[in-house]
Amino acid sequence: MKGKIAPSLMCVDLMNVERDIKILEEAEVDYLHIDIMDNHFVPNVTLGFDFIDAIRKITHLPLDIHLMIENPENSLSYIKNCSPKDIVSLHYESTPHIHRALALVKGLGAKAGVAINPGTPIQVLEDLLPDIDVVLVMTVNPGFAGQQLVPATLNKISKLRKMLDESGHGHIEIEVDGNVSFEKAKLMYECGADIYVGGSSSVFHKDSSILENSQKMREIVNA
Ligand code: DX5
Ligand code: ZN
Repeated sequence: MKGKIAPSLMCVDLMNVERDIKILEEAEVDYLHIDIMDNHFVPNVTLGFDFIDAIRKITHLPLDIHLMIENPENSLSYIKNCSPKDIVSLHYESTPHIHRALALVKGLGAKAGVAINPGTPIQVLEDLLPDIDVVLVMTVNPGFAGQQLVPATLNKISKLRKMLDESGHGHIEIEVDGNVSFEKAKLMYECGADIYVGGSSSVFHKDSSILENSQKMREIVNA
């Protein structure tokens, strides 16, 4: 199985975004992961909706937009010009009206993803499976780069893969986000993950270049 790589632009050098995106294109990564935060659902604020528009002007890579905002259904209209290859994920915990929010994501023309925090059990996804293309499993509590993996999330990936396959939803992709180091990516691959968010612990690891790190990640997730 071929895994997909989604480098997290939260970890890019903001003074050199265009240069680094060209390197990621050369490395043939699959998505650009863009974290949108609101300082309420998570304590931090990182990239915003205008950043998405700016990135679309300089790349044809599909975008993987991860919304960490409360009541995302109120803000989805700020995401424009989606392609059917883009993913827009919102958190299960961020709205009491998840089906309405997912319908709005579909209306944008993107694939719909549901993200779950490390403490949220996979059973909450059961009634959402017919409406989603991706489950984004947070492997750290969202909001910051450079955190340590919550170990219980590895077993969660395996259980989710089983649940998806056994319920006739094997086409739904599992994305993993948070401390996806080279070492942990290998374990996540064995658990059945499909899309790997590369942050400070892999693609943007300081020990090597973005190009070399991306190639190393590719070898791990294409084993
Ligand atoms: C938050 C982000 C981070 C981050 C991951 O949703 O996507 O999880 O960039 O990178 P690490 O954990 O490797 O710094
Ligand atoms: Zn993310």
